[in-house]
Amino acid sequence: MQLNYENIINELQRFVDLLVSQDRKPHVFGVVDFCKRLAKRYSLDENKLTIMALVHDLFRDLPGDKLFKIAHCYELSISELGVKRPILIHGLVASEYLKRRFGIDDEDMLTGIAYHTSGYPNFGPLGKALVLADSLELTRVYDRINQLREIAFYDLNVAYVEIIRNKINYAVNHNLYLLPETVETWNKLMEGDRT
Ligand SMILES: [Fe+2]
Ligand SMILES: [Fe+2]
Repeated sequence: MQLNYENIINELQRFVDLLVSQDRKPHVFGVVDFCKRLAKRYSLDENKLTIMALVHDLFRDLPGDKLFKIAHCYELSISELGVKRPILIHGLVASEYLKRRFGIDDEDMLTGIAYHTSGYPNFGPLGKALVLADSLELTRVYDRINQLREIAFYDLNVAYVEIIRNKINYAVNHNLYLLPETVETWNKLMEGDRT
């Protein structure tokens, strides 16, 4: 099926306006901007990355019960952790929404959106770029972020390893859950398979 990316981007921009909180909008547009820069640097599809950036946190501000309702309608299976922390399924819901609403079937896009918080062992370049942009967009402020931004434009795979390392360090240092996909990703990366 021929997809009209311009129409999809226009519709998603309207939905971001309606569904994303005022506080989060600068983050979402920061991710769009960072994704566009990464697309240029690594010759990735800018339209696909823009769509991923616009949709990735579209459901992030919905209350848990609403997220569960949508997930139920979409017949998504929710992990035990997702039941405890509904916010964790916002990526999964966004990915399924994009698939159903626009007929997008690009696996790199869909898994990239679904697992943008955790990382994923079999991400392609689009998924890696979204994870980087989500962590490094210009409104974010934390230790070492400028160094990580530099690495992001030096080597996509090296930067992805560093971002996953950061996520693990952050979770451990702040007494937070380690997401199973993050651990699986780390283990896969340590096998030396960074393609
Ligand atoms: Fe998110
Ligand atoms: Fe985000």
